[in-house]
Amino acid sequence: MDHHASPKPATARKSKALSGSVRVPGDKSISHRAFMFGGLASGETRITGLLEGEDVLRTGDAMKAMGAVIEKHGDEWIIQGVGNGCLLEPVAPLDFGNAGTGSRLTMGLVGTYDMETTFIGDASLSKRPMGRVLDPLREMGVQVVKAAPGDRMPLTLRGPKHAAPISYRVPMASAQVKSAVLLAGLNAAGVTTVIEPVMTRDHTEKMLKGFGANLEVETDADGVRHIRIEGRGKLLGQTIAVPGDPSSAGFPLVAALLVPGSDIVIENVLMNPTRTGLVLTLQEMGGSIELLNPRNAGGEDVADIRVRGSELKGVTVPAERAPSMIDEYPVLAVAAAFAEGETLMQGLDELRVKESDRLAAVARGLEANGVDCTEGEDWLSVRGRPDGRGLGGGTVETHLDHRIAMSFLVMGLMSEKPVTIDDANMIATSFPEFMGLMKGLGATIE
Ligand code: S3P
Repeated sequence: MDHHASPKPATARKSKALSGSVRVPGDKSISHRAFMFGGLASGETRITGLLEGEDVLRTGDAMKAMGAVIEKHGDEWIIQGVGNGCLLEPVAPLDFGNAGTGSRLTMGLVGTYDMETTFIGDASLSKRPMGRVLDPLREMGVQVVKAAPGDRMPLTLRGPKHAAPISYRVPMASAQVKSAVLLAGLNAAGVTTVIEPVMTRDHTEKMLKGFGANLEVETDADGVRHIRIEGRGKLLGQTIAVPGDPSSAGFPLVAALLVPGSDIVIENVLMNPTRTGLVLTLQEMGGSIELLNPRNAGGEDVADIRVRGSELKGVTVPAERAPSMIDEYPVLAVAAAFAEGETLMQGLDELRVKESDRLAAVARGLEANGVDCTEGEDWLSVRGRPDGRGLGGGTVETHLDHRIAMSFLVMGLMSEKPVTIDDANMIATSFPEFMGLMKGLGATIE
């Protein structure tokens, strides 16, 4: 997206029952990795169901700038990869726009190459901490030639002649950090080990194995995962069908639970257990959510989700669940605003370093719309109003954050008064079809 596009406000109003069957776009995490690993592997990779959001397209552009050939034919993306170890030095800075995943994983991917790569991004991405990825890369011999204060973008990396494999214990629950180190290990002779005390989404491990990497995972008696990858191996192009993104599915899902009388089906949603925390929590809150036709597709669990309007009750969401629903707290907080009693969400420290400080952005958005909530250092509690009486009427600052934008538009569908967001542009980073899909279900958004 144009970093300087003028803001486009949007307003959601109390809606009648939602109905219909929809498909949400492909999973963002898998789509980024499909472009990256396809661009890296030897031979041809074919991808269907790819999320064609701004963030993922940036990753595709970066892979093209480093030698991959990526083309779309009909519904299929076809990639001719360069071969592991054979990425080319990009002639210009790689612009990742708003994409934390694309930029952090690519830093790992190219950091260990004997070449110079510059990373730039939009105002939101330039505020996000990159030290969490740069620290392990430094241990492997990567130089951070230039960076904005606090290890932020714009930054330039220069790899060593021969990168050293390391053993690295990930200090925070972050699939991006885990993945960056594993990808750096692909270009270091020997075995790189990532120790992961708290399990996060495992798409990198699963997909790299699928591309032929010599990667093994061992879980010790304390539940700590030890992921070992052998560097300099051969990766071979694959055929990938990307399932629907459970994080995107969260928006129509919560909307249908909130608006009385709704009955919708969201088809073909990824149900990888590292991603299902929102569904579990909403079921605990009393939400009518049925998983239809559960199946395995391309090594991932997938299901169709039937959702019916429900009366929700507040719950305590344990901190251990945070990694399996880290991107879903904004929309869960909106669900909590209409639940009976209090919902307490804990273990939210990572929300402070997302596309915005999501904990603060959610709390301010709820307050602006009359919701009684308390923001703690790493927790949020919300006291709901099941009938939505008195709620709404505010304008939410989205801080260049797509999930804040979509969550508060969902809120407006059940609030007594309309909810306005200051800018809907960023929705295109992860869910370009959001407005059309929601209106197709019967939502009043303009
Ligand atoms: C992602 C990991 C998560 C998540 C992000 C996608 C990934 O970030 O919030 O949207 O694809 O690896 P962290 O690793 O920072 O938790």
